[in-house]
Amino acid sequence: MREPRNRVVQVRRFGGPDGLEVVDAPLPMAGPGEVRVRVLASGLEYTDVLIRRHLYPQTMRLRPPFVLGYDVVGEIDQLGDGVSGFQVGDRVADMTVVGSHAAYRTLRADRLTPVPAGLDAAEAATLILSWTTAYQLLHRAARVQPGQRVLVHGAAGAVGQALVSLGRRAGLELWGTARREHAALIRELGATPIDYQREDFTRVLRDGFDVVFDGIAEDGYRRSFGALKRGGLLCAYGYSAGVQAKRRMLTMLMWIARLYLWGWLPSGKRARFYSINVMRARHPAWFRQDLEQLFGLLATRAIRPRVAERISFDEVAEAHRRLEAGGLGGKLVL
Ligand SMILES: NC(=O)c1ccc[n+]([C@@H]2O[C@H](COP(=O)([O-])OP(=O)(O)OC[C@H]3O[C@@H](n4cnc5c(N)ncnc54)[C@H](OP(=O)(O)O)[C@@H]3O)[C@@H](O)[C@H]2O)c1
Repeated sequence: MREPRNRVVQVRRFGGPDGLEVVDAPLPMAGPGEVRVRVLASGLEYTDVLIRRHLYPQTMRLRPPFVLGYDVVGEIDQLGDGVSGFQVGDRVADMTVVGSHAAYRTLRADRLTPVPAGLDAAEAATLILSWTTAYQLLHRAARVQPGQRVLVHGAAGAVGQALVSLGRRAGLELWGTARREHAALIRELGATPIDYQREDFTRVLRDGFDVVFDGIAEDGYRRSFGALKRGGLLCAYGYSAGVQAKRRMLTMLMWIARLYLWGWLPSGKRARFYSINVMRARHPAWFRQDLEQLFGLLATRAIRPRVAERISFDEVAEAHRRLEAGGLGGKLVL
């Protein structure tokens, strides 16, 4: 039988989407404790844009060329020595940060989460980074309680949609900022839309919100902190506005550091930064539990992640342009 071909999407140079290229690559072999998977789906994330632009703390030490691809759903086609509990043909998932925009790749067996039979691979892939982030922001970082009044920025985005959908299941009263075209989508997901181009979210509630989730960092999170009630909590988790405005990495790290200083102000308000990688490193079992829980919800159709489009390798550079332009109502999956 002919050996299968491997193809990968790699960053050839940091910067714009034209620094991406699709190339043939050697077929990797599973080493001890590893499996090789045929990749069925890998999400495209705004975070890939940060990695491509060399603005992502976890990948600052990587130098091109390297393969992009934050998450993976794949089918095992080779077992390395010493791997037990998995068989060829099993479907598995992992969050890899890089390396999954490939036809084949190897994965460490002790980091895998089984994917239940019958799940659509692209829908399952949306749960790995975006929905697990949302789940952990709600239940691990903010520990929300039913009835709390919560503001979600970028509510039409990948993490934002998941925050609203899961927040509604948790009994929260939700508001979501989004461009006007997405108002109906936000309402359908279960939140009151706020048009971020025309309305002032700091004036929506007189007493302020219990919790604000902010992955955008307009104003370096200042207005989000201002929109909290006394004793409220700001959970920051991204800085796309800073990236769009071409701010330096150091400036964005200062915004994050300042969050912790604000906690000392006499307002009783608190602020913190959530990172899925930091939380996974501290609590690896939580990551697997939370992803398994989400796979279970998907299997019963209790949650419905939106896949905007399933794209091919050759469309990745264009997909990055679309991610940066905004306005997508769901996730792009390779
Ligand atoms: N810390 C972590 O562990 C973690 C995990 C996952 C993601 N992230 C980060 O979280 C951020 C969001 O990720 P994502 O995958 O959800 O991105 P996404 O799918 O691109 O969504 C971002 C959303 O933000 C909206 N937006 C842009 N400017 C806005 C503004 N001024 N006010 C309100 N909304 C605005 C966009 O809306 P329009 O399209 O309507 O403009 C878009 O829907 C990224 O920075 C990402 O790197 C962090």
